[in-house]
Amino acid sequence: MQVLPKGVRHIPSCLDSEAQEALVEDIRNVVQAAPLYVPTMPRSGKPMSVRMTNCGALGWVTDKERGYRYQPTHPLTGKPWPPIPRRLLDLWNTVSGYPHPPEACLVNFYSHDAKMGLHQDRDEQEFSAPVVSVSLGDACLFRVGGTNRADRTLSLELKSGDVVVLGGERRLAFHGVDRIYPATSALLKNGGRINLTLRRVTKP
Ligand code: SIN
Ligand code: FE2
Repeated sequence: MQVLPKGVRHIPSCLDSEAQEALVEDIRNVVQAAPLYVPTMPRSGKPMSVRMTNCGALGWVTDKERGYRYQPTHPLTGKPWPPIPRRLLDLWNTVSGYPHPPEACLVNFYSHDAKMGLHQDRDEQEFSAPVVSVSLGDACLFRVGGTNRADRTLSLELKSGDVVVLGGERRLAFHGVDRIYPATSALLKNGGRINLTLRRVTKP
């Protein structure tokens, strides 16, 4: 077993298969109200390989013109994001150790060839709350480092039902997804991976 740096918690099989299936159903409803779209990078306008949407009072978005930010509405429909499903609020209460609810849940969908470059989650105002991440569907190779891009990183496989908490001194740790392992889960009918990240955005 590899030892994770302080502030990074990996909870393998945090959600059993029943909870995973129920959560996929919740996310299907979210996506119906707030369709997945292709986000683009600030300045370059380069499309990301994941598709995204959000639930919660605020959603994390990015585009060429206005860059990374939180906003209360979907960039294409202009409608408010749907609420964060109860099940995810319960999970936050169980694992976050933070006394206020999350305000944003970013939904990332990875097809078999999608990945996410090393980055920090730092568009929030409140860094005393952790980021809580849930993996559903195909497994992935997740990488996490320190608070400087050049810090040594370590890689771990995240499977369906796993939860990762980035908090404390690793709240601003660089992290990313190097690859998806196709056909490693039967949870999603058409394969791929869903990642949900719960964040507190504003200071209470
Ligand atoms: C993210 O950093 O937004 C996603 C991480 C993941 O997909 O596990
Ligand atoms: Fe992130």
